Amino acid sequence: MTNSDRSPGNTREEGTVCWRSPSNIALVKYWGKRAGQLPANPSVSITLNNSFTCTCLKYRSSDQGKGRLLNFSFGGEKNEAFAGRVSSFLNSLGELYPFIGDYDLEVTSRNSFPHSSGIASSASAMSALALCLTSMERIVSGSPSEEESFFRKASYVARMGSGSAARSVYPGYVLWGRFPGIPWSADEFAVPLNDNIHKEFREMGDAILLVDDTPKRVSSSRGHALMEGNPWSAVRYEQASRNTSGLIDVLAAGDLDEFVRITEQEALTLHSLMMNSDEGYILMKPGTLEVIERVRRFREETGVPAAFTLDAGPNVHLIYPVRFRESVIKLIDEELLQFCPGRRWIDDAAGGGPLQVDVGAGGDQVQVDVESAK
Ligand code: DP6
Repeated sequence: MTNSDRSPGNTREEGTVCWRSPSNIALVKYWGKRAGQLPANPSVSITLNNSFTCTCLKYRSSDQGKGRLLNFSFGGEKNEAFAGRVSSFLNSLGELYPFIGDYDLEVTSRNSFPHSSGIASSASAMSALALCLTSMERIVSGSPSEEESFFRKASYVARMGSGSAARSVYPGYVLWGRFPGIPWSADEFAVPLNDNIHKEFREMGDAILLVDDTPKRVSSSRGHALMEGNPWSAVRYEQASRNTSGLIDVLAAGDLDEFVRITEQEALTLHSLMMNSDEGYILMKPGTLEVIERVRRFREETGVPAAFTLDAGPNVHLIYPVRFRESVIKLIDEELLQFCPGRRWIDDAAGGGPLQVDVGAGGDQVQVDVESAK
């Protein structure tokens, strides 16, 4: 962690803190939640590197007696819809940050990936904001002073903004949800899982194939809510716990085949839960299925352990050990990009987690380009 939140310009009265926080891709999916923004089952993700949000939080002690969110801009423009979500999120944090009502706040946020890419940004956006708020807390109140409690608090707060955001505050493999055998695991915050990872899984790529970039018809929040009436939910929650246990063992043992099996089963289960919910909806597109079929054929023919997974949307994440990069890139170029309009994809990988950045960086972060046709 840098010392920039302790820079001389940052005092109890006023200052600016900035964090760059990545998106993550779940291998075991969080789908279904309980009251209090708690997950119905444990989930495991990989934190990404190139897809991130950079957020700056500017605070000034309010002379009105009651602080307000004065300004919110996203990607250099005012964004009323997201400002509303951020504002109600901030208003809900009085108990966690008792000081918050005493300050006027301005939030500037920017994504590295284009808005039109169809990549969900709530995990990176909410984790970046939570990290900024926790930095501010440390400046104005002196705590949390220990690194471990700092990130735990940030993960807790990120979760309140968006469940999957809880996992983005840590690098590499991350577990969110109480799970027997993993010390400190909890439903309230995520924990890193990087102590016992076989060398096969230490360097992973994620090629995000942008099959469709139109806005989703059904939001994730609605999807979680629909799990309540879903006749398969109890069975699903058991499966997720089994797959969490299986995946943790697989990551330690270096079992690539089992990694692929669990990862793909989770993706297909997620989408089948959408299909057999009361509203019976489909977020996959024909291109999604075409890509899946070709990934499976490629694996059969080459033995390369590349696994597909899906978020709550049509785009396909292709997860692979980096040592197989050459043949995976060939597959993408020759077979998969024909299903991505404009041949657009994001070349991402497992990354080192969030980074505190200097003031100013939030406004003009370099865009990570979506790769496109050669
Ligand atoms: C399919 O975290 O976006 O990506 O808590 O309502 O904000 P809210 O939901 P969100 O759900 C993400 C669901 C998922 C699976 C996952 O990331 O685990």
